[in-house]
Parts: sequence; structure tokens; C-alpha cells
Amino acid sequence: MKQRQSLGVGPEIIDPTCYARDGYPHETFRRLRDEAPVYWYGENALPFWAITRHADIIEISRQPELFSNLPHFQIVVGAEFGDSDHREPETIIQMDPPRHRRYRELVSRRFTPRALRHVEAALGPIVDELLSALESEAREGEIDLVERIAAPFPMAVISWLLDVPREDWSMLYEWSCAVVTPNDPDYREQGESAHEARLRASQSLYEYFGKLAEERCHGDGDDLVSLLARAEVDGRPIDPHVLASYYLLLIVGGNETTRNALSGGLHALIERPAIWDETAANPSKIEAAAEEFLRWSTPVVQMARTATRDTEIHGQNIRKGETLALFYASANRDERVFPQPFEFRLDRQPNPHLAFGIGEHSCPGAHLARIEIRVMLGQLLSRMERFEFTKPPTRLFASSVGGFKTLPVRYAFKKH
Ligand code: HEM
Repeated sequence: MKQRQSLGVGPEIIDPTCYARDGYPHETFRRLRDEAPVYWYGENALPFWAITRHADIIEISRQPELFSNLPHFQIVVGAEFGDSDHREPETIIQMDPPRHRRYRELVSRRFTPRALRHVEAALGPIVDELLSALESEAREGEIDLVERIAAPFPMAVISWLLDVPREDWSMLYEWSCAVVTPNDPDYREQGESAHEARLRASQSLYEYFGKLAEERCHGDGDDLVSLLARAEVDGRPIDPHVLASYYLLLIVGGNETTRNALSGGLHALIERPAIWDETAANPSKIEAAAEEFLRWSTPVVQMARTATRDTEIHGQNIRKGETLALFYASANRDERVFPQPFEFRLDRQPNPHLAFGIGEHSCPGAHLARIEIRVMLGQLLSRMERFEFTKPPTRLFASSVGGFKTLPVRYAFKKH
């Protein structure tokens, strides 16, 4: 057994303040991949093993019996659930097989490429509406790309799939942000701690969807709220708390991550005008660009697992009950898998990034997210000139999801 190594790795790998200030700690991730791919980070309230290589994350994700999603599925600094009287969400991310599969399949059937064929056709008009609203305000000007494009689009798509009334979308968006990035003071109410903000927002989402489900459970609606409200597992309706948690996960999963993939990818293209032009001139490259958006931005920084028995990885002794953080943000820059990982390239084929995770819990929304990115990018490239930054972007105050909070740009619609 090797000694637990000390490399002088600091809070930059998990502290939201560092992520907000400097972005992803790629230099530290590179050192960890090279020198200590299974690294004990004991400085956190929840100490964890940092897993930073692509191959190791795949290996761990494919063994859900040995590496459980309970009790911690992610390292959330300063706003952990579970230390108060409130009940934590019980989503499918917090389930292990075989229970996990029975609940997951209730929605995963809705997200296959075949099932989503009609959805793809519906997304064009949603993007068109967003861009046309902007165009009718002014054909050129200054906007925050996150506020006007990257955030409202995924929110519109998931709200449409859940058939949520339009007037509630912005409220759901606020709650969703507070659940995922409660450390950000903008999503907290006055005097509220991050922990309290997260609980308040999740409670609000439970109540909101609890009511909708009650209204729809006897109807014949085809939306995701109705589908789950009527669903049975092992011959029984879903427990109300598990049901409410499912809706919370869909709103949060469908919203933050796609927003961050869009904003992270667009940021990369704005910094690389030649790639913007190349993709605009060759729409057949949009698919490759969308994959590179995902690798480049890696919207989910890390997910966690807990060892269910003593085990060993790269000679490091992992004890039963210890937490492992799978750093997708590092895996997606792993030189062992991606040539020139710090270059944004349209010729990565295949592009085996782990932005959606892999294995038992891999993202069921992956295909939907891919379509969203492609449709949005296609319309932006065909209708708009390249964006230009007007001010430095700001980043999210979070180390579980990552990305830009604002992207202030100058825009112009193409002249017909
Ligand atoms: C770019 C967009 C997205 C990214 C980067 C992303 C990423 C992820 C990741 C990393 C996981 C966990 C994987 C693991 O632990 O192995 C996950 C799980 C999940 N995602 Fe996504 N996601 C995205 C979009 C979506 C969308 C659009 C939806 C739904 C509409 C969605 C719903 C879910 C659900 C329900 C899970 C839990 C799966 C399970 O535990 O079995 N995601 N996602």
C-alpha cells in the first residue's frame, strides 16, 4: 500500500471562491493526473479521494455495487444537505441498483433518439422565438449571452417537456439556480446561508410539482409531470417525496448543465473567431463543434461515489465508507485520451468526453442536450455575426457545476 501523498494541492480543486475567480484548476488537475491520480484531499468538511484520470473514472463508474451513489453523490461545499430537519431530495442519483434502474427507466424511454425525434422538430421554433424577440428589440447592441440565450433556452425546453405554465418559468429558474449554486449570494435571500437557500429552493420545487402532479395524476397528459404522476414501480404509485424529487432533478438537470455547456462553448468560439467562421461556413461541422462544447465546458465538474468495501486503485488503499470525487473536468483534458487537450478542435473523432458521466448513472438527458446545443448553434451561426466581448465574463460561484454566470457581448444580426 502506498502512503497517502501530499502534493501541496490547495483549495483550488473544490473551493467555489477559487472556481469563481480562476475557473477550473487545470494546472492542478494536470499535476494530479501525472503524479497522484488517486489523491487524498483531507482539507474538506467531507474529505475525498480526487480521481482525475479518464480511465479511472470509467472504471469506477462501471462498478456501482462497489462504488455507491449513497450517501454522497457530489461534493457540494458549504451547502450540504442532510444536517437539518428537512428531508433531502431522494432522486435517482441517490439510488443504487437494482432500485435505481426501476426508477430510471420511467423517464429514460422518453429520452432515446427515437423518442426525441418529434422534440427535435419543436426546438427550432423555440430558438427562433428567442432570437426573433432579440432581433425585434434591436438588430444590434449589447447583451449578456447567458441571460438572453444560454439560460432561457434550456429552461424553455425542459418546461415545455414538463408542460409547466410559461409565467412560472422564471420562478423555477431561480429555484433551480439556488439548488445548484446556493453559494452564490445572488440566489440567496437576505440573511440566508447557502444551506438554507438550497433547502428553501428545493422545498419550493417540491411543493410546486407536488400540486401539479396531484392535478395531473388522473388525466391522460403526455407531458413528463403527468407521466411520472401516473407511473408505478413494483405495482405501486411512486412515493410523493421520491416523485417530487424526480421533478426537481429534471428541472435542475435539464437547465443548469445545458446552459453552462452553451455558454462555455460560445465563450470558446468567441475567443477563436477562425473556428466560428469555419463552423458557420460548414454546417456539417456543427455536430463536432457541439461535442467539443461539451468536452471543453464540462458543465458538471464532479460527481461522488462511496466505497462499499475496502479496495485499491493505483496502489492507494481506499477504505469502506470513503468518498471518491470523479473529476470529469480533469478527465476531459486527459492527455492520455485527447491529443492537445487544451485546443478546441473540430476534428476529434471520436470525442470520448465524459461530460455526461458514464455507466449506471450516465446522463439520460444526453441526447436531448446534444440536440439543444446543435439547434441553437446552427441558428446562431446562420443568423448572427460573430459576438465580441464588451466586458470580462464572470464565473459561477460553485465547484459542483461550472461555467459562466455572465458573458457580456456585442451582437449583430446578419444583413439579409
Ligand atoms: C449539457 C447538458 C448536460 C450535462 C453536461 C449533464 C451531465 C450529467 C452528469 C455528469 C450526470 C451524472 C453522471 C454520473 O454520475 O455518472 C447526469 C445525470 C443526470 N442527468 Fe444530465 N446532463 C445534461 C443535461 C441533462 C438534461 C437535458 C436532462 C433532462 C432533461 C438531464 C437529466 C439527468 C438525470 C435525470 C440524471 C440522473 C441519472 C441517473 O442517476 O441515473 N441531464 N447528467
